[in-house]
Amino acid sequence: MSPEFALSPEQRRGVYAAIYGRRDVRHFRPDPVPPSVLARLLDAAHHAPSVGFMQPWDFILIADRALRARVHELFLAERARAAETFPEPRRSQYLAYKLEGILDAPLNVCVTCDLARGGVVLGRRSMPDTDVYSACLAIQNFWLAARAEGVGVGWVSILCPDQLSALLGLPPTVVPVAYLCVGYPEAFADRPLLEATGWRERLSLDRLVHYERWGGTPTGDWAAVAAAVCERAPFEPPRGGDCAPSPA
Ligand SMILES: Cc1cc2nc3c(=O)[nH]c(=O)nc-3n(C[C@H](O)[C@H](O)[C@H](O)COP(=O)(O)O)c2cc1C
Repeated sequence: MSPEFALSPEQRRGVYAAIYGRRDVRHFRPDPVPPSVLARLLDAAHHAPSVGFMQPWDFILIADRALRARVHELFLAERARAAETFPEPRRSQYLAYKLEGILDAPLNVCVTCDLARGGVVLGRRSMPDTDVYSACLAIQNFWLAARAEGVGVGWVSILCPDQLSALLGLPPTVVPVAYLCVGYPEAFADRPLLEATGWRERLSLDRLVHYERWGGTPTGDWAAVAAAVCERAPFEPPRGGDCAPSPA
């Protein structure tokens, strides 16, 4: 039996499939994303949680190739600066990566955060950055909905925010949070590029979970949680009960 408010097994499978199957996409086919699909992604983003229901996000849709070429120039300049921060052989590896799809993707979307939206915002006084956190949640909604629709999204942060703001004409209280490349991908890889190519490994989840305090170990009732975290079993619909038995 599922808890009263759980989604159906099929719905749950879909949610986890989008979470685990989402990838940062850098190679795109040129086919445009249909308006109705794009509208669904934007509406999914617009239903993200936000501090004090501030909804600080805006979405700038960019298809113009000349404008995208200028953003790409900003990327190249910033990538060159960033490369200098890595010693060899990492620098060469970094420069060999394709870290954007600005010109390949048919659509770019800049997601911004209006720091002044809504005046005094409930819940933001002690943590002023919660406006940007909220914008990030909208981006994640967009990314997951895109995966569900078979649309690829790649986040490009190798851009100088001031130069990007000037290029896109952002008002003084609005900051860019994400520059996204959006379109149908050539593939959704099984693993992150940076993992598959040995740049960095996925951290072990059990080392990131603390019990009662930083560094706290799983004593008492937490032992079962720690064991389950170690197993890290992905969602499987329950057999029987609320799920049709699988065919023999
Ligand atoms: C805030 C943020 C900024 C990122 N910036 C870039 C970027 O500039 N270029 C890039 O290729 N990937 C970028 N990524 C994608 C990450 O490299 C990617 O999410 C990570 O390697 C895990 O891979 P996955 O998203 O495919 O699971 C960014 C992701 C986030 C969340």
